[in-house]
Amino acid sequence: MSTASETSSPAAATPATFAAVASATARIKAFLPAGARPQVALVLGSGLGAYAEQLVGARHVDYKDLGLPSSHVQGHAGRLFYGRTRGDGGAPGVEVLAMQGRVHAYEGHDLQTVVLPVRALIGAGCQVVLLTNAAGGVGEGLAAGDLVLIRDHLNLVGGSPLRGENDPTLGPRFPDMTAVYDPRLRLLAEQVAARLALRLPSGVYACSLGPQYETPAEVRMLRTLGADLVGMSTVPEAIAARHMGARVLGISCVTNLAAGISAQPLSHDEVTETAQRVRGVFIRLLDGILAAIGRELDGSTAG
Ligand code: HPA
Repeated sequence: MSTASETSSPAAATPATFAAVASATARIKAFLPAGARPQVALVLGSGLGAYAEQLVGARHVDYKDLGLPSSHVQGHAGRLFYGRTRGDGGAPGVEVLAMQGRVHAYEGHDLQTVVLPVRALIGAGCQVVLLTNAAGGVGEGLAAGDLVLIRDHLNLVGGSPLRGENDPTLGPRFPDMTAVYDPRLRLLAEQVAARLALRLPSGVYACSLGPQYETPAEVRMLRTLGADLVGMSTVPEAIAARHMGARVLGISCVTNLAAGISAQPLSHDEVTETAQRVRGVFIRLLDGILAAIGRELDGSTAG
């Protein structure tokens, strides 16, 4: 049987794309415990996957059992978790579906495959998508270990996950991208960071195809273009999620200074080591943000 993880699926959306989304959505719903209503989809990037394991009442399933593509990259485990976050003062938190790892276009996957999981998680009921990633720091004043709120993005992947046929039941042909990263959720995140006395600057994330890191000249170009962060993920998922009307929030962990800013050559080991070093801070921030999102969603559904 062929699976969505094969690299031969078409680069442009076809009816098969939407059938794969419907099938993965149904399998995710079947994995959920009775009565579960996950509200937030969480995508945990390189080295950040541990967050999923401390969810309350966590249960997990391998991506392959859901028809979702698995990554071969170290730090991307390929498991979907369901559970609740820890709410304020011991209260039950928000119900989340958390992806431990994602696939990337540089692995050979077309963009339809890259965004399949996010589309299916939204199909399974998630109204908010919180995307996390490891990124190189391009902007002035950033240091390895900083967490940065994504304010906007530059799509430099060379393609769009919306290319090809459009399914109007998912979203419009020409979706607006004025505010991809939800202004209200960004404000909540900033308030949470301030309360926890954590630095949370915001920045523009540039997504390159990779897998090679940038040259110093490319990093100078990115800075000229207004980028503060550079990475190889998140943007296709954010576009697909906005297309479906989900509210998106993005957080980068600056795992290294981008090429040429420091004299040190870049390595994936440095990326995962830094992500692990900030794990404690990251968990505190995510718990706080998810509790705030939970209150926001309850407020918008009550009444
Ligand atoms: N460039 C691109 N992607 C990355 C980087 C980087 O410096 N660090 C982590 N992901």
